[in-house]
Amino acid sequence: MAPRLAALPAPAAPATDTDWWRTAVVYQVYLRSFADSNGDGIGDLAGLRSRLPYLVWLGVDALWINPHYPSGGADGGYDVVDYRAVDPDYGDVADLEALVADARALGLKVVLDVVPNHTSDQHPWFRAALADRGAPEASRYHFAPASEEPPNNWQSLFGGPAWSRTPDGRWYLHLFAPEQPDLDWRDPAVAEDFEATLRFWLDRGVSGFRVDVAYGLFKDAGLRDNPGAYSPTLFGHGPEQAMTWNQPEVHDVWRRWRAVCDEYPGTMLVGEVCLADLDQVALYSRPDEMHQSFSFRLLKSGWDAGVFGEAVSTALDAFAAVGAPVSWVLGNHDKDRQVTRFGGGAVGTARARAAALLLMALPGSPYLYAGDELALPQAVVPDEAKRDPIFHRSGGARAGRDGCRVPMPWNESEGVGFSPDGAADPWLPVPADWSRYAVSRQSRDGGSALTLHRRALALRAAHPALGSGTATVRVDGDVLTVTCTGDGETVRCVLNMGTGTALVPGGTVLLASSTAVRPGVLPPDTAVWLLDD
Ligand code: NOJ
Ligand code: CA
Repeated sequence: MAPRLAALPAPAAPATDTDWWRTAVVYQVYLRSFADSNGDGIGDLAGLRSRLPYLVWLGVDALWINPHYPSGGADGGYDVVDYRAVDPDYGDVADLEALVADARALGLKVVLDVVPNHTSDQHPWFRAALADRGAPEASRYHFAPASEEPPNNWQSLFGGPAWSRTPDGRWYLHLFAPEQPDLDWRDPAVAEDFEATLRFWLDRGVSGFRVDVAYGLFKDAGLRDNPGAYSPTLFGHGPEQAMTWNQPEVHDVWRRWRAVCDEYPGTMLVGEVCLADLDQVALYSRPDEMHQSFSFRLLKSGWDAGVFGEAVSTALDAFAAVGAPVSWVLGNHDKDRQVTRFGGGAVGTARARAAALLLMALPGSPYLYAGDELALPQAVVPDEAKRDPIFHRSGGARAGRDGCRVPMPWNESEGVGFSPDGAADPWLPVPADWSRYAVSRQSRDGGSALTLHRRALALRAAHPALGSGTATVRVDGDVLTVTCTGDGETVRCVLNMGTGTALVPGGTVLLASSTAVRPGVLPPDTAVWLLDD
């Protein structure tokens, strides 16, 4: 389904097919919540396939699909039971091949999620390791002998100790939920198996992988205590967690994976690297490692011009030093929606729209999380419907991530078009007023967030200064200006993050985040793209 909108500018020449990822706009699909084809209340591959024309209409280049594998269901699919199969909830391998073929015909790339730091506790390896401590599979995990206390002070990111007991009293390591035992990458069988998994999907035509917890995999060989506790107020992990993350050996894994991808021209790897130091993050995308490693600093930045400016310039410098594009992120399936993070209501919505213009102007590769183009707020999910282990393991102290994972509103019907008529209830409840955000409604509205995103992506494709040029950052009080230059033209993205109206210099207005923007006048919480005359 492709809603109708007025004509948009013709795109400039696309990046070549092998380095498409340098400037690609990647749309993140939370598969379980995107589109349900068979009425069981769960999004699936056939549903996604039927919505590919929407993604073409929107103007993205690629999609990244959250894990589609058979899973123990303990962490939204990030507890994988079989890496070379499709969860029956989502379809089968033939459905994935059909999706890839359709996407290819429409000019879209498909990037899968791969989860190498841990398996499910239902994975055959972990089952074999529990059944027989002498089994070869046992050396693929971190087991420690039975003792009163866990082997060290490591904590699970989802709360509580990172060690749990096996039925026979041993300890095993899980940096996430107990149902996600960490793999021991010092066993060569682990590396070999993951390379077979990469080839399995690459042979089916996928264009690459988003790599979960890519800064994990190896742990301190001596299992020494971490020097300090992690604080969510930090931009990511740092020296306080030096024993569990960012061990030097991990870079060899990415070199091997890069060599595999190099056998399949035009494929790419993007790593999830949650380290506070962006220079360290950028090392994961050196020329012989992954193609990109996410820059999460904007995602963790509050509404402040200085903080945003610092996030952008630090990322530009860090990734330029290794010759990699910056992969920009404002939202994903792990964080509250921007509208809510930035204050909620009209203010949060205005800010989310303005921030989206910044995201799409920057040089490199922006990642758009499904539903952000609709300016969805964080949904209120009743506690009894919540699925996220973060909520349950914290005894309800942490809200968890369900509110950014509710089904997509496609139309204004009661079920918002997520499932066919007469279907089962959706796997997470959709808020009663969600139809106001529906794609069908916003596509008819020239002032909607959806229209804004579509226009921005069309302009980005038409203007080499946007997305594929170079950028400089300037902060004047509450006003952030990113000056983007490419192919002889200059476009400035000016963002007013203060409470007063800002006066901005002239230029042709290409796009504004609000109709309240007038030539030269930028109200609070708005952004504009200005083409230098
Ligand atoms: C990062 C993923 O984005 C998140 O959803 C997941 O819970 C953890 N990795 C563990 O796999
Ligand atoms: Ca379904």
